[in-house]
Amino acid sequence: QNDMDKVVTCLAPVNIAAIKYWGKRDERLILPLNDSVSLTLDCDQMHSQTSVIAGPFIKEDGIWLNGQIMPIETNERLQKCFNLIRQLIVKRKGENCPEAKWKIRVCSENNFPTAAGLASSAAGYACLVYTLANAFDLLNEDLSSIARQGSGSACRSIYGGFVHWKAGIDDLGSDSIAVQIADDTHWPEMRIIILVVNDSQKKTSSTVGMQKSVETSELLKYRIQKCVPERTTQIIQAIKDKNFEQFAEITMKDSNQFHAVCLDTYPPCVYLNQVSHEIISFVHDYNEATGQIKVSYTFDAGPNAFLFILQNDLSSFMSELIKVFPTDQPISSYIRGIVSTQSDML
Ligand code: PMV
Repeated sequence: QNDMDKVVTCLAPVNIAAIKYWGKRDERLILPLNDSVSLTLDCDQMHSQTSVIAGPFIKEDGIWLNGQIMPIETNERLQKCFNLIRQLIVKRKGENCPEAKWKIRVCSENNFPTAAGLASSAAGYACLVYTLANAFDLLNEDLSSIARQGSGSACRSIYGGFVHWKAGIDDLGSDSIAVQIADDTHWPEMRIIILVVNDSQKKTSSTVGMQKSVETSELLKYRIQKCVPERTTQIIQAIKDKNFEQFAEITMKDSNQFHAVCLDTYPPCVYLNQVSHEIISFVHDYNEATGQIKVSYTFDAGPNAFLFILQNDLSSFMSELIKVFPTDQPISSYIRGIVSTQSDML
């Protein structure tokens, strides 16, 4: 007789930051230097899918990522997520509960390129933590703090809709958590277009890029002190008011400043390429021609563009876009959140 005879499977989408997280004040606990704000996409286009099975019948922990076994012993972040979930099980169910001793098997896959500046680690760690929590009935706990310790931006994918990751001030990170600004039904007209410019793995990982920026960029200090606090307040208000132009302008400015910080890093981290810059120009030209801010862009640590636009403007914009970027196949996504299912063990 097995104690857990269900396979719990969840899909977690990527989230795209409109105010970027860049720089840590604590590397081990993954505590950021600044607040960030993001939108969680739907699972239809880009997601991580994770299945978890646990029980006394499993001999040792194991994790498979994209079909390959991962060595947990040498992966500090994976280990941390497993340990934090186990600590939570003990806290909630007592030290002598059998589940605390169960070994866990995890199988995780991304349906899009990993480590290409497409927020794969955010979806991956959010999915891992959420699925583990689901398997052990811990969904009411603050999972964002655990996901954060897998990959910083993963704490935001725990929630659907519009999310604010508060940097916090506590040295132990108790107040560095993600909170939902508004759920996925709040602004149903919002669409995200993803233009995959290059899906090969980035040269400088965000972890290394951030460290270098913290060590060498003067602009990063200015950004954190003088720009991000005000922008965060303003964009949260713009989201609440569904003020697209305000939202879009802040998003573009923040993306540009983040990449300026990357260039101010020594040696510089160059994530955008020629096509990224052409997309930026195209968006500004389009907005100028319409006399309004109809569309905005943001870029993570890679050349791929994420465009925000309202549903009513989508088709006319798309018809212009494909004239200029004919070979790209734009992906259009909604704002949503995590999906979970359970199936019987085979
Ligand atoms: O969570 P990480 O370590 O992959 O860092 C993500 C950093 C950016 O994607 C560039 C910005 C963000 O806020 O998502």
